[in-house]
Amino acid sequence: MTMCSKTIISAFLLYLCFDHVSMLIHRSHHLILFGDALSPYAFDKDWDFLMFTQQWPSSQCKVWTHNKPNHHCVFPKKPNSWTVHGIWPTKKGTKGPFNCNNTWLFDPEQVRPIESELEEAWTNVEKETQLYNLWAHEWNKHGTCAAMIEPFNSQLKYFSKGIDFLNKYHMTEMLNAANIVPSDTVGLKAEDINRAVVAKLGIRPMIQCESEDGVQYLIELRICFDKQLNIMECQGEHEVNGLLTNCNASKGIIYPTQVQEPPPKKYLVQLLKFVNWVQWFTL
Ligand SMILES: *[C@@H]1O[C@H](CO)[C@@H](O)[C@H](O)[C@H]1NC(C)=O
Ligand SMILES: *[C@@H]1O[C@H](CO)[C@@H](O)[C@H](O)[C@H]1NC(C)=O
Repeated sequence: MTMCSKTIISAFLLYLCFDHVSMLIHRSHHLILFGDALSPYAFDKDWDFLMFTQQWPSSQCKVWTHNKPNHHCVFPKKPNSWTVHGIWPTKKGTKGPFNCNNTWLFDPEQVRPIESELEEAWTNVEKETQLYNLWAHEWNKHGTCAAMIEPFNSQLKYFSKGIDFLNKYHMTEMLNAANIVPSDTVGLKAEDINRAVVAKLGIRPMIQCESEDGVQYLIELRICFDKQLNIMECQGEHEVNGLLTNCNASKGIIYPTQVQEPPPKKYLVQLLKFVNWVQWFTL
């Protein structure tokens, strides 16, 4: 190889290295933000019911990519699927308890048998974070508290239950049955979403919106279970006009369609170009 190509290779490796380091910094920042470092330590780890939260990946993606051109999203392979966000033990009228066992941390080996199912059902939308970020967060914060009852007393059981609940209470089907389908332009009413769920389950869901640039997106639907895992309405929630929602009733709710897959990563394209270039000079 010529001196010139060696210099260029070194420069390129340095570039890759910096790219990697900045991603690591980004990841650790993210972990700190979502690590509940600020939540008060719950001395009382008791809880009354489980809140099962499904999320709409397209809305989660709006939040993750908002004003962040370097952020991309991962979607489940089956398009237009609601996915699990978490199963959250809850004491009536409060949030939490959280982080009930700080020495029992998430271990990917424990969920290895169901990992590919989890990727589909419990998808980490945030592409620039580690695959296990969401699962580690959910287990460490909520799973360790759910584990006080037998059906959740291992990581495999906690995550398997999430998949079971999703299959049994899939919001895509309930909404489709009421002709509620994704649209980026037609705003929904919270009453209609509520009615669709009541028609199937007989209980009102919690309907969660998140706003970006003045548009409110349907981001989560939550239902609850007692300790015997009977379905129940989430208790102690704020009601507005008979609905359990944080959405603004005077505005339409956008249930956004799935955004296009992003193009391949820039450095991969550059790497391919570079390989071609090296071959050109050395072969
Ligand atoms: C925390 O988890 C570890 C590992 O499963 C277990 O041995 C320990 O008893 C737990 N501690 C409490 C306070 O539950
Ligand atoms: C709800 O939306 C209306 C219309 O955009 C707005 O004027 C009002 O301030 C919003 N209310 C809240 C509580 O955000």
